[in-house]
Amino acid sequence: MTELIRLTGISKVLKGQKEPRTILDGVDLTVRAGESVAIVGRSGSGKSTLLSVLGLFDRPDSGTYLLEDRDISRLPERHAAQLRSSHFGFVFQRFFLLKHLTAAQNVAMALINGQGWQPRRERKARVMRALEQVGIEHLARNRPAKMSGGEQQRVAIARALVREPRILLADEPTGALDTETGSIVIDALQEATTRGCALILVTHDRDHAARMGRILDLQAGVLSERTLSPAGGPTMVLPQIGGPAA
Ligand SMILES: Nc1ncnc2c1ncn2[C@@H]1O[C@H](COP(=O)(O)OP(=O)(O)OP(=O)(O)O)[C@@H](O)[C@H]1O
Ligand SMILES: [Mg+2]
Repeated sequence: MTELIRLTGISKVLKGQKEPRTILDGVDLTVRAGESVAIVGRSGSGKSTLLSVLGLFDRPDSGTYLLEDRDISRLPERHAAQLRSSHFGFVFQRFFLLKHLTAAQNVAMALINGQGWQPRRERKARVMRALEQVGIEHLARNRPAKMSGGEQQRVAIARALVREPRILLADEPTGALDTETGSIVIDALQEATTRGCALILVTHDRDHAARMGRILDLQAGVLSERTLSPAGGPTMVLPQIGGPAA
């Protein structure tokens, strides 16, 4: 499989008022096309910070970030913004839908913002395809207030997918949903990997983590891999997934 992401020795240090604090500590991570990766770990362990670095919202203080073999460790914001819209889709715990727009219009916003001009008909077709991919094409004309939490999150996923990203970054996308609805949302995210999109999912839910191809555990900024048993092998023992710190 094509290698999309290679992080080597990525560190992130926050210059605190007193002492600098290491938030990411020598993170190594390789992600290939079509792969799904769960990142688990206690609250405050650096999961969201890692996603911000991956999604080019934040730059590492040291280490190397290769995106499709290109070194983007120190990319200026102008270029980073371009790569964000061409390569990445983002899904968050809060859906951030615009209340006054329909589902279809919310998804279309992702095409209008940053993808250049497209004929209206083509834009509409892409929006409907994205809504179909997450199974809510029948809700295209509904506004968020008339949708369940799971439906709203699927609109947010459609908005992330409509640009056909190579990498989907999801930060606790089921955090605001009940178990059953959360599972439907994970289905929708996983579906994207069948089309070659890589999925990196931060989650506190051990069942959702277990459905990903790999589980990575972040502890105090140090990332370590948990090896899954081969398909058909004995059920793996899940690591203790830290909930909010006591
Ligand atoms: N902008 C910031 N300023 C100061 N400290 C920050 C900032 N962003 C993150 N931190 C600190 O960095 C550490 C890692 O934060 P991060 O949000 O990455 O954790 P997390 O693993 O996503 O936690 P959670 O599971 O609660 O979402 C935390 O101790 C947090 O307080
Ligand atoms: Mg977080």
